[in-house]
Amino acid sequence: MSDAHARRVQAQFGGSAAAYVTSPLHAAGEDLERLLAWGAARRAERVLDVATGGGHTALALAGIARRVVAYDLTEPMLQAARGHLQARGAANVAFVAGDAGALPFEDGAFDVVTCRTAAHHFADVGAAVRQIHRVLRPGGALLLQDILGHDDAEAGAFILEVERRRDPSHVRSYRTVEWKAFLRAAGLTIMEDVVIWKIREWEEWTGRMRMTAEARGELEAFVRRAPEPCRAAFDFRLTPDTVLSFTDRQILLRAERD
Ligand SMILES: C[S@@+](CC[C@H](N)C(=O)[O-])C[C@H]1O[C@@H](n2cnc3c(N)ncnc32)[C@H](O)[C@@H]1O
Repeated sequence: MSDAHARRVQAQFGGSAAAYVTSPLHAAGEDLERLLAWGAARRAERVLDVATGGGHTALALAGIARRVVAYDLTEPMLQAARGHLQARGAANVAFVAGDAGALPFEDGAFDVVTCRTAAHHFADVGAAVRQIHRVLRPGGALLLQDILGHDDAEAGAFILEVERRRDPSHVRSYRTVEWKAFLRAAGLTIMEDVVIWKIREWEEWTGRMRMTAEARGELEAFVRRAPEPCRAAFDFRLTPDTVLSFTDRQILLRAERD
C-alpha cells in the first residue's frame, strides 16, 4: 500500500474513531449476527479481526473465542477500540497495529479471520485475502462482510463518486463475482454467500466522516443532478431540502482454507 493511501485512511478514521465506537450501524445488525453465528458454528478459538475499527466484531467474537486479536491500520482507532472493549469487560482481546496487506502473524495462527465493512478501503484486496489465507490454519474460515459493488456500471460509478466525496479513503466495493475470484485465487473455498440491505441515514452517515456543511451541500447537489435510475438503484430518499437516506447492499461470505 502506498504511504499516501495509508495516510488518507488514517486521516479519515483517526478523527472519527469515537464516532465508529458509537455508530449504531456498526454496533449491531443482521450482518454482525450472521458473522457471529458462523463463528460460533466453527468453534472459533483463535480469532483475528482485520480492520477492527471501533471493535464491534472483535467484541462479538470475544464472547465465543478463547483469544481475539483486533488489528487496524489506524492507531487512534485501535485506542478507541481498546477503551470500548475494556469498558465492555472483554479481557481476551489483544490490539495490534498494521496493514491488512502485511499481516505480522505466523502461518496458520488463527482458526477464524473476520473482516467487516472494511475491505473497500484496502489498496490491494487480493494481497489482503492472500495474507488472510496464510494466517488461517488448514480448515480455518474467513468470515467477511463488505459493501457490495453494483452490477450496473452507471449506478456503480455514481455510488463510488458519492462514497469518495464523503470519504476519500474509499477505494471501491466489489461485485459478487469479483469477491469470489479474489477468494478462489487465494486458495479459499466459498461455503456460503448472502446479500443483505442496509439503510444509511444521511445525517449520521455524512456526519460520522465529519463532512463540512459546504461539502455535504455539494454532495447533495451531485445526488440530485444524477440520473433517476442511479438514485433509484440505492433507494435515495429526498425531501425538497435535504437527503434523508439511501440503501446499499452488503455481501457476506464464509470461505474455508483447504
Ligand atoms: C468501518 S471501519 C471497520 C468497522 C469494524 N470492522 C466493525 O465491525 O465495526 C474501517 C476500518 O478499516 C481500517 N483500515 C482501512 N484500511 C486498512 C488496512 N489496509 N489495513 C488495516 N486496517 C485498515 C480503518 O483504519 C478503519 O478503522
